[in-house]
Amino acid sequence: MSILFVCLGNICRSPTAEGVMLGLLEREGLSEEVRVESAGTGSWHVGDPPDPRSVEAAAERGIELTGAARQVTPSDFEEFDLLVAMDRSNRGDLLAMAPGEDDRAKVRLLREFADEEELDVPDPYYGAGDGFARVVEIVERNCEAMLREIIEAR
Ligand code: 4NP
Repeated sequence: MSILFVCLGNICRSPTAEGVMLGLLEREGLSEEVRVESAGTGSWHVGDPPDPRSVEAAAERGIELTGAARQVTPSDFEEFDLLVAMDRSNRGDLLAMAPGEDDRAKVRLLREFADEEELDVPDPYYGAGDGFARVVEIVERNCEAMLREIIEAR
């Protein structure tokens, strides 16, 4: 199966989710079975590496962030089974871009996986410094829940 994590810039939240999920899959010996990437709805940071503040917050938890930002395209709906949005704004953009009805069904919110009351992963880019650690914490909890779903569905 394949999962694309999506945020706005593809330098903070979705690369964090990608790094966390890759680590969890490796822990479970499932790296070969699940493809994981990330992308942004916006184009400002295309080609940029993950934000150093995200890299540092992830490293505190033993997670490595790699790759360069890219923008989501309609063809991602063909490529991926699941497009996981970090917040409701990202989800709205994805739903508007989805080529067909089947494609819309592939769009989920990250925080639906752990059934959380708060639906958005707060954008840390312009906020206070601890927003980055909070993103890692939210992402880890929800990726663990997603992983359990994947394992149960196998
Ligand atoms: P992200 O954070 O969506 O979590 O990667 C952002 C990064 C950059 C911008 C917005 C959000 N920006 O407007 O440049």
